[in-house]
Amino acid sequence: MPSRPHGGILVNRVATSSRAERIRDEINELQKVSLDETSAVDLENIARGVYSPLQGFMVREDFESVLLNMRLANDVPWTIPIVLDVKRDELGEISEGDEIALTYKSPIATMEVEEIFGYDKKEMAERVLGTSSPEHPWVRKIMEMGDLMIGGRITLVNPLQSPYPEYTLWPHETRILFRERGWRYIVGFQTRNAPHMGHEAIQKTALAIADGLFINPVIGRKKAGDFRDDVILSAYKVLIENYFPRDTVALVILRYEMRYAGPREAVHHAIMRKNYGCTHFIVGRDHAGIGDFYPPYAAQEIFKQFPDLGITPLFFREFFYCKKCIGMVNEKTCPHSEDDRIRISGTMVRKSLEEGKMPPAEVMRPEVARAIISFGDPFVR
Ligand code: ADX
Repeated sequence: MPSRPHGGILVNRVATSSRAERIRDEINELQKVSLDETSAVDLENIARGVYSPLQGFMVREDFESVLLNMRLANDVPWTIPIVLDVKRDELGEISEGDEIALTYKSPIATMEVEEIFGYDKKEMAERVLGTSSPEHPWVRKIMEMGDLMIGGRITLVNPLQSPYPEYTLWPHETRILFRERGWRYIVGFQTRNAPHMGHEAIQKTALAIADGLFINPVIGRKKAGDFRDDVILSAYKVLIENYFPRDTVALVILRYEMRYAGPREAVHHAIMRKNYGCTHFIVGRDHAGIGDFYPPYAAQEIFKQFPDLGITPLFFREFFYCKKCIGMVNEKTCPHSEDDRIRISGTMVRKSLEEGKMPPAEVMRPEVARAIISFGDPFVR
């Protein structure tokens, strides 16, 4: 049985076709705010229920409550602000109570402006990311944001084009899929990487006691050096075809921009997968981390604060290859010494793939490595 949506109901803020038709006629008359890609995909995630129970961009009360308490004002767990920032000079005549159009290239939605408010960028960065260092990519993003935020309910009128329609399902659709497959124990897996043996080990350890695995790679703007989206999807396709039993895995994209917020982002990742219907969610080593900003297991510790999350986190210590065990293991299952262990380093994997060389079979499936190498340049520049 898929889990109950976060906050109780699965939000649907997509205009019905007759309503959309009517709004499309009027939308050009409205005052406009233009969105960047981050906000446009956030908007679609709100409308499609990925961010249930949010019905729009946050108003001040929710924003401040999320910063201070990691909960919405009504006490529902929520760790990442979902906000629409705007520069003062872009606001024009817009004021509270107005209905406005939100555009991304062309108009995509309407919004009931409930509140326009100021905020402190340094405080936002420190609360959400635990740092205001410009070395952190989302700190830089916050510093470039407009000085004001607009909160209010949205209605999606013109959905974005999916870059990968064959891998696109929304929460109301994955819930049907899970029911059709008879899955009751459904494990969500977040990733922004092509799969290595460590990923596969934690996926299969979880799948061994679950009904189904929901692999949900993040697609969208990433930082330089990350795997390209098409590479991640091809790599997973090959892995699933060759190494998982039929119909035990659903591979579905999530359009979302990583905040690299470590522990807070891990909780947000879990909430999104709960909305897709997952009952369990994998959190491994350095989940959603970047550089040395977060201790490797901080993203597991934080879940202690959310006994009411409504999705069960599954925690994994780092998996590595052990020459004596002859397989992927971790410190909870392997008694051998460091000399026997081959640890998986992202940097090392990247370097060999970049040079067109196959990483060792202990680190990456050869079929997966070949699929990645076939792209020539598999990384975001
Ligand atoms: S993340 O930013 O999306 O977390 P990544 O795609 O590398 O990065 O990781 C996906 C999931 O696998 C995360 O839960 C992460 O903690 C986990 N993970 C990655 N490598 C390992 C490993 N060697 N051992 C245990 N967990 C891992």
